[in-house]
Amino acid sequence: MLDIVFNQEEAAKVYLLNTDADSELFDLAKETSNFTAKAEEIFFLPKENHESVVLAGLGDLADIDLEVLRRTAFKVAKTLKNHKIEAASLALPETNLDKEAVLAALSEGFLHSEYEFNLSKEAQEKEDKKLSIAFTDIKDEDKAADIVKQVRNIVEGIFITRDLTNTTSNILHPETLANKAKEYLEPLGVKVSVYDEKEMLDMGMEAAYAVGKGSDFKPRFILIEYYNDDSTDDITALVGKGICYDSGGYSIKSSSGMSTMQSDMGGAAAIIGAVYALAKNDVKTNVLGSITACENLISGCSYRVGDIIGSMSGKTIEVGNTDAEGRVSMADSMYYATKQDHVVEVIDIATLTGACISALGYEYTGAVTNNQDLLDRFKAASEEAGEKVWQLPVSKNFKEANKSKVADVTNLGSGGAGTVTAGLFISEFLADEKLPWLHLDIAGTSWLKSSEGYLPERATGVGVKGFYNYLAKK
Ligand code: BES
Ligand code: ZN
Ligand code: ZN
Repeated sequence: MLDIVFNQEEAAKVYLLNTDADSELFDLAKETSNFTAKAEEIFFLPKENHESVVLAGLGDLADIDLEVLRRTAFKVAKTLKNHKIEAASLALPETNLDKEAVLAALSEGFLHSEYEFNLSKEAQEKEDKKLSIAFTDIKDEDKAADIVKQVRNIVEGIFITRDLTNTTSNILHPETLANKAKEYLEPLGVKVSVYDEKEMLDMGMEAAYAVGKGSDFKPRFILIEYYNDDSTDDITALVGKGICYDSGGYSIKSSSGMSTMQSDMGGAAAIIGAVYALAKNDVKTNVLGSITACENLISGCSYRVGDIIGSMSGKTIEVGNTDAEGRVSMADSMYYATKQDHVVEVIDIATLTGACISALGYEYTGAVTNNQDLLDRFKAASEEAGEKVWQLPVSKNFKEANKSKVADVTNLGSGGAGTVTAGLFISEFLADEKLPWLHLDIAGTSWLKSSEGYLPERATGVGVKGFYNYLAKK
């Protein structure tokens, strides 16, 4: 349990220093440990009880940005916890940034230190460490408390996304994901409707059904409606890949390739976490979330390589590879979402292609769009929140690459640029091809093999902050 307060006697002192800071403690740390106050550098001076001191570097004043503050605050909180310190206090550091944004970024970094995913008996029985961090010299404490509360709600949304994505597929099936969406969102007044496989077929969702029918745990269509802006009818649709397990199907993956594929619903989880944060903070916006949740398994009734299947839009799909299942399942969630009245833009988010990891690694989410303005605004909001986005090009040839000789499209685009062709495949199922559309491939950014700054190993919760900041600022 980590509390953030504004007054606290008896507390260890934390000093956030830039490289030019002038202080005796800084001199001491320089002499004894070569501490230079570079970003995220920590110097700990142990003393009795609450008299310990933590010096944390922020780097050069001109280079301090919100991400440096988040990452450094995370390290400070971890240091305090490791030394079993229960109370600490600090003043806002000197920066060139807006003070409220600094308070939010530091609070976020502190709160990220709370996350853990560990189902071992030992971890479950471990006692929760208590830590209370006080910001001193805050002028308007009510306003500051409100900012911290909003940040806490966003971080809770991120933790929900991480938990859902980390939960393994023996526990989290399509129906479980649907129940979780209800459990998290309905108490906040968000409408969550769930359709079973029969209802999906009645609605014409043949593509998503084909992907999910090979499992005993049949697909579900999850519709999330958060309408909280009376001033406009406009709705932003969010479409998320919800593959609760991706074995590859008959185009079977290797054992190691399969080992993290419980995370193939990270896009769906990001929508659930983002709507949770939006609703908890009462953000004035209108969002429609559309998720076809499926398991891509092998059985006597799985879809096969070579099948030609229908879809809700009426377009037919040739299955060139059953492991390219995300785009097939999303054909129907995309068509459904963009067919609804008042939907004026759509953003889809998916752990879609290994090619995205080859192109951009684990730091940048890949983006494809038909609307530069939408991408520019989303990228700015997302990067301000600490989630980086990189745009990939679109061309006529890339669109042609999804053409099939025997169906409208094939799910196995030709000619390379796999991330672009996969994104463009999904855009084939926009109910109106002119609708502003943005595709986010989070195959690399949603899951880490080892921790990076405040992002833990395994699920990162990517997408929650990007969606939140974009929708809150619109
Ligand atoms: N879920 C995978 C993509 C993926 C790979 C996500 C690694 C995260 C980490 C997706 O369904 C997939 O298997 N894509 C194939 C497409 C190919 C068959 C055209 C891929 O990327 O290899
Ligand atoms: Zn796959
Ligand atoms: Zn997949």
